[in-house]
Amino acid sequence: MPSWFGKLQKVACDVLQPRQIIIVGFMGTGKSSVGQELARILARRFVDLDDLIAQREGRSPGEIIEQDGESRFRELETKALGELLDSPDAQVIAAGGGAWASAENRELINSSKAFTVWLAAPFKLCWKRIKAGKEFRPLARSRDEAQRLYAARRPTYHLAAARVPVSDGENPGAIAEKIVELIAPKRA
Ligand code: S3P
Repeated sequence: MPSWFGKLQKVACDVLQPRQIIIVGFMGTGKSSVGQELARILARRFVDLDDLIAQREGRSPGEIIEQDGESRFRELETKALGELLDSPDAQVIAAGGGAWASAENRELINSSKAFTVWLAAPFKLCWKRIKAGKEFRPLARSRDEAQRLYAARRPTYHLAAARVPVSDGENPGAIAEKIVELIAPKRA
């Protein structure tokens, strides 16, 4: 790792601590893999909100939505998110694609002073990954359904504190480094 990057890493840690970092963005933008890389760089714990809910419920988010309805899943999501935001240790949190779309969750996140980063990937790339992925995503069963959701949520993603463009073939580590570069100058 070059020394200039080590300095950026240190500045990013100073700027953020102890704020939580929340990675938001549509399904298929790579929130979990980028979040893991970012947590590694910043030496923080990584938490995947969907995995946390799945562990608690013994079912995947997709199964919860399918069996109990989306609103039940959103209740569980808001509860788990609130608990993570209350936690005293600084974490990198990958939120599910719909978490930031909820005004209640945005309020929780913003009032906790967490730092939000939107992984902005074009719809075509998201859909390619959704289609290829093994995850069960009942809210994106068809291209049309996913595209409508993408368009409806896009204005809310613009409300995140920072935006990092994501393109096909970019590796998660490189995207995480871009996030660090973007955070560090905010110290000035
Ligand atoms: C959802 C996205 C999923 C998961 C759930 C609902 C959404 O997470 O939380 O199926 O509403 O966009 P990913 O964004 O990780 O696929």
